[in-house]
Amino acid sequence: MPVIVVASSKGGAGKSTTTVVLGTELAYAGADVTLLDCDPNRSLSLWAAKAPLPERIGVVSDITESAVVRVIKEHDADGRIVIVDLEGIASRMVSRAISQADLVLIPMRATVLDATIGVRSIALIAEEEEALGRNIAHAVVFTMTRAIRSKQQNGIEASLRRQGVSIIEPPLMERAAFSALFEFGGNLRSIPEQGNMQGAIENAAAFAAAVYGELRGALQ
Ligand SMILES: Nc1ncnc2c1ncn2[C@@H]1O[C@H](COP(=O)(O)OP(=O)(O)O)[C@@H](O)[C@H]1O
Ligand SMILES: [Mg+2]
Repeated sequence: MPVIVVASSKGGAGKSTTTVVLGTELAYAGADVTLLDCDPNRSLSLWAAKAPLPERIGVVSDITESAVVRVIKEHDADGRIVIVDLEGIASRMVSRAISQADLVLIPMRATVLDATIGVRSIALIAEEEEALGRNIAHAVVFTMTRAIRSKQQNGIEASLRRQGVSIIEPPLMERAAFSALFEFGGNLRSIPEQGNMQGAIENAAAFAAAVYGELRGALQ
């Protein structure tokens, strides 16, 4: 079934947060989800160790460069949504994961510096497309955005859209609840109340629905 790869060569772009928010929301909505931790920093595995895993979620840790394609294919076969979290570098591991993707999500903060680096991940996808002779659907996810959009964000969005890059709407806003997932484990429904909890839950649910829509479009 579908494979979503979360990739950006920028550390701290929000990849692991995007993976956990997306995975827990899709599982909450009824999907069976497998999260693959392909980052030696083990953010996903640390999240998974904090609390019992939410229903319908599995996590596979410590995936090496030589095993990544086989592990993705194994989990792809059994009808679950597979989400792959990667290290913030360009590496053979990242290329191999991207080669297996139905949809690549590229998280980035909406600043000029981060977008400049984030766009390199789009170039990496283009190289994989060329090598494989197929299109790889991909979309940018703005992370840690504020309620009021900055001029910088509007400019970056316009520039990406002009280049034909899809952008997931809504973005993932900056919410204490999202970073608290890594403190407590579990999902947004199980962790102690953090800041505007209802706002975080609504944002996460709408975000996951938008990604699901993008994925369905990519699979058609
Ligand atoms: N939407 C968000 N709201 C609040 N904090 C966030 C959000 N996204 C990421 N963070 C915080 O920013 C830092 C980097 O995020 P992370 O997901 O680990 O990035 P990456 O996996 O790309 O290195 C972490 O401390 C995380 O808790
Ligand atoms: Mg990470």
